[in-house]
Amino acid sequence: MTNPVNPAIAATTPPPVMQARRWLDGVTFSTTKPLINVSQAAPVEAPPKALRQALAEVVLNTPEAHLYGPVLGLPQLRTEVARQWSAAYGGNITDTQVAITSGCNQAFAAAIATLAGAGDEVILPTPWYFNHKMWLDMQGITTRPLPCGTDMLPDPDHAASLITPRTRAIVLVTPNNPTGAEYPAELLRRFYDLAQSHGLALIVDETYRDFDARSDAPHDLFTDPHWSDTLIQLYSFSKAYRLTGHRVGTMVASTSRLAEVEKFLDTVAICPNQLGQHAALWGMQNLSQWLAGERDEILKRRAAIKADFPALAKNGWKLLGCGAYFAYMEHPFEMPSNELAKQLVRQSAVLALPGTMFVPAEDASGARQLRIAFANIDSTGIATLYQRLAGFTI
Ligand SMILES: Cc1ncc(COP(=O)(O)O)c(C=O)c1O
Repeated sequence: MTNPVNPAIAATTPPPVMQARRWLDGVTFSTTKPLINVSQAAPVEAPPKALRQALAEVVLNTPEAHLYGPVLGLPQLRTEVARQWSAAYGGNITDTQVAITSGCNQAFAAAIATLAGAGDEVILPTPWYFNHKMWLDMQGITTRPLPCGTDMLPDPDHAASLITPRTRAIVLVTPNNPTGAEYPAELLRRFYDLAQSHGLALIVDETYRDFDARSDAPHDLFTDPHWSDTLIQLYSFSKAYRLTGHRVGTMVASTSRLAEVEKFLDTVAICPNQLGQHAALWGMQNLSQWLAGERDEILKRRAAIKADFPALAKNGWKLLGCGAYFAYMEHPFEMPSNELAKQLVRQSAVLALPGTMFVPAEDASGARQLRIAFANIDSTGIATLYQRLAGFTI
């Protein structure tokens, strides 16, 4: 007799990025045609040296950084987030409305844990960020997919038609993973009003906020004095300061919800990684100029993705969305994207994730789509990528 497996876990898809990595097994790449890996949206280099030095100082000279800390995070970091967020969004956010988490994925899990249980429903625009769907599946929560329009934006009226007595939350990701779409402030406001009028939570994952092409606040939701009755905002320190391995994220929500979140976090991780929190704090206090430079570079790459696209468009490709770290493309082949992605590794030395990973199995659109995470390739790399995609044949 074998040990039982929770059917909800068994039914959840395996981690997509790991799955894609296995497509590389046994494939060798020549030095003249090295692999272009556009599969993962993560920095590939270490944080800037000054941050590493500051971290080394903490390792040596701050004994408590090696111990358990407060469940909801380092007080100075919570205060810094509250201060910088209030300034950036033009609202009033206090430190008791900020929790630090072990990455933004954990922030999502914690938020959902306080909102919904098995049998409840959550509305998720598609294409979705797969870890959101996976967490909902593992909890036995029903995901109500909300297909985006051709502009890669979700429609609040359509969302309204999906609300049932079991709906607990609407989740938005902006700038979006996988499409790169930056949701207009007015659209966020319409979703906020919808959520508020139905007593739902609006979860907005702003992991890529530092790479938004707009220089103003991307929305005005925090200016509502009652924002914390409806809004739960999530963020990741992974991308901004290249801290993926340190696992630091944040959730901004009402103080009363964070008291519920504290139960979840205490049980799961006790406290967020202390060194990572010090790194995030140092980054927030010292790296704004550096981060502005990183953003400029990403915006340059985004411009190259768009400017060079005619090279692919003449072969039947379409650019469906482009922003933050991502371009979302429609390919011209009969072959479904999950097959195409494997063939691209072997024939073109390109690793990208297929659209099938971002939509429900019954949604045929994913078979025509690919996500290109372009953040790690410069304009020369983008030109080479396009040559390889244009030269691909079945
Ligand atoms: C939309 C979105 N949310 C959350 C995460 C995870 O962030 P973290 O590394 O902070 O867990 C990612 C990472 O790719 C993401 O794209």
